[in-house]
Amino acid sequence: MSAASGLIAPHGGVLINRFVPQERYESTLALAKTLPTIPLTPRQISDLEIIAIGAASPLTGFLNQKDYQSVLHSMRLANGLPWTIPLTLPISQEQAKTLATHPKATLTAQDGQPLAILHLQDIYPYDKAQEAQAIYKTTDPAHPGVAILYAQPELYAGGDVEVLTLPPHTDFPEYYLTPTQTRAYFAQKGWRTVVGFQTRNPVHRAHEYLQKVALEMVDGLLLHPLVGETKGDDIPASVRMRCYRVLLDNYYPLDRTLLAVNPSAMRYAGPREAVFHALLRKNYGCTHFIVGRDHAGVGNYYGTYEAQEIFDAFSPEEIGIIPLKFEHAFWCQQCGSMATSKTCPHPSEAHVTLSGTKVREMLRAGQRPPVEFTRPEVAEVLIEAFRNSS
Ligand code: ADX
Repeated sequence: MSAASGLIAPHGGVLINRFVPQERYESTLALAKTLPTIPLTPRQISDLEIIAIGAASPLTGFLNQKDYQSVLHSMRLANGLPWTIPLTLPISQEQAKTLATHPKATLTAQDGQPLAILHLQDIYPYDKAQEAQAIYKTTDPAHPGVAILYAQPELYAGGDVEVLTLPPHTDFPEYYLTPTQTRAYFAQKGWRTVVGFQTRNPVHRAHEYLQKVALEMVDGLLLHPLVGETKGDDIPASVRMRCYRVLLDNYYPLDRTLLAVNPSAMRYAGPREAVFHALLRKNYGCTHFIVGRDHAGVGNYYGTYEAQEIFDAFSPEEIGIIPLKFEHAFWCQQCGSMATSKTCPHPSEAHVTLSGTKVREMLRAGQRPPVEFTRPEVAEVLIEAFRNSS
């Protein structure tokens, strides 16, 4: 706990803020216009954002070689602090040549707008297959995270960033709360324990069950959908946010629930990403974090509960935030309620489970999935979204 606020301490002890202070803004912008530039992709901008606002504390920039190697091989930064996903800045050989004589570079948006200054520490080669195996546990190029890794340039540039600005959030801007803002909200509400919930999918009854079981035990819930880049067939963030809104308005205790977004991009790295997701939410001020079945998984690359087991590689003190681990949840016809194998004695024929593919087929055909699977209000939003997209 950080004594002053009564809230959980950020990872590494200090909440990072990498925005250029007001008084140096003009001079830094002038400098940025003179430096070699590195245009960022949307997912690199997401990484820049989580570094800038302190969601990725204690990171102050893109990983240098020492930290990168350490994260890859021991799931820790070089100083020993747990960290499982490398936030790196890929650059090409040509860019590296331009940077050779410059200790600084300007990171820009795709349209050339200067976003940040990179204080270059090193430029280093990396082994894509080795990173794929370590982070994603596969070298299969069909894995969406591995595919992005294989397509990116050959070198990494490491170094601290000083951020001038971030591209504006045009969709649902009011939900982009920084860790400083969520922490202030929790303090003002007097919540001593807060559970964070990560999701990249439209909300369904199993999500609601996990959140509400957790809410029986803690003071508040941070519903924290990820809105950075996801793979092409995932439902767009704007639709998912509308689903959350109707669900909250109809079924949640609003005085104990905060909806805000996590700007980072999805990696689909399963177990390693579960720890990363937990550490981000610790920075946002959560004391607990929900890890269900196949958290951040895709296809069949990870075991159903691997994303829970990975937490055993660390001591509870060094992770800080407490993982709340849930078994596969479903509606049981015989129980007449949501349940898991821990609470339900009935055979699987009594359980309502639908695959994501099946649900998408139904929605595309304008059919509501069963109420035991999706709340009708949420189904309406999804059907409408599918209608408008076809
Ligand atoms: S994730 O990629 O963001 O993890 P998703 O949005 O599907 O995917 O899941 C959000 C959280 O809910 C994760 O912790 C996941 O493990 C959990 N979860 C999703 N569906 C179930 C379920 N039926 N039973 C138990 N946990 C689930």
